[in-house]
Amino acid sequence: MKHLLKLGDLSRDEIFGILNLADQLKFERKNNIKKDYLKGKTLGMIVRKSSTRTRVSFEVGMYELGGTALFLSDRDLQIGRGEPIKDTARVFSRYLSGLMIRTFDQSEVEEFASYGSIPVINALTDYAHPCQVLADLMTIREYKGSFKGLKMCFVGDGNNMANSLIVGALKMGMSFSIACPKGYEPDAEIMKWASEYEGFEVTDDLMKAAKDADVLYTDVWASMGQEGEKAVREAAFKGYQINADVMAVAKKDAMVLHCLPAHRGEEITEDVLEAHANEIFDEAENRLHAQKAVMVKLMRD
Ligand code: CP
Ligand code: NVA
Repeated sequence: MKHLLKLGDLSRDEIFGILNLADQLKFERKNNIKKDYLKGKTLGMIVRKSSTRTRVSFEVGMYELGGTALFLSDRDLQIGRGEPIKDTARVFSRYLSGLMIRTFDQSEVEEFASYGSIPVINALTDYAHPCQVLADLMTIREYKGSFKGLKMCFVGDGNNMANSLIVGALKMGMSFSIACPKGYEPDAEIMKWASEYEGFEVTDDLMKAAKDADVLYTDVWASMGQEGEKAVREAAFKGYQINADVMAVAKKDAMVLHCLPAHRGEEITEDVLEAHANEIFDEAENRLHAQKAVMVKLMRD
């Protein structure tokens, strides 16, 4: 594994390798065992959209691994003034040991990877959010013990989260149902890939998708960059919410996950979120451990 651009690039064994290392790093942190896996290494962080969890967990993670992280806002970089990505990639490759990027178009992270000579990590694009899904898988395994036979139900927009969860869940042996309004389905190529799996379902029927689910997952109705579509989306997604009625058709011990930030009263009710706060904030914590594992895998000599 040279980069983390999307989950589809990783084999099932590579995903297990990251999750196992993440568990180990979590154990070491809880027991104050400090190992400088990335001593002297530097991570550049190009962040072109807002971020709370991703930015802080990468920065703290790099520090805890003995390295340094540089926060690079595109307001300050020459990229913001039109310097080509291919030039920026080649320059950064001379200074840095790795680069994480949060941006709009997936082609930008792909271009950084192809022109640069250092590992590139996708920290969210409009297409994918692989770091989040690695933390989600880690959390599911913590709570459920394994992935085998579990059903995940995603409620809402066929966005970056849905695209990455489909790949992560199916690769790890879970089945996957998504309930989304017509016209808001996940990426067509990902759906084509997923249709080879028996346990994959796309429907606009929320109760059908949620029936007997072990893991319920949702995300905002309007993602970053879609603020102008807010009103249209609010109308389209009305009712696509994890609430008490949805919980009633899922398995009794179903867990609820949310990548956060959450819009209470839209994709999830306050009651459900608070009842499942342990899982949701463990999930947020696991961003740190999963990303440390990714960085060690990609950046250690
Ligand atoms: N879930 C997630 O990526 O959060 P941030 O947008 O706060 O980084
Ligand atoms: N789909 C959301 C995820 C945020 C972590 C967005 O792209 O804004």
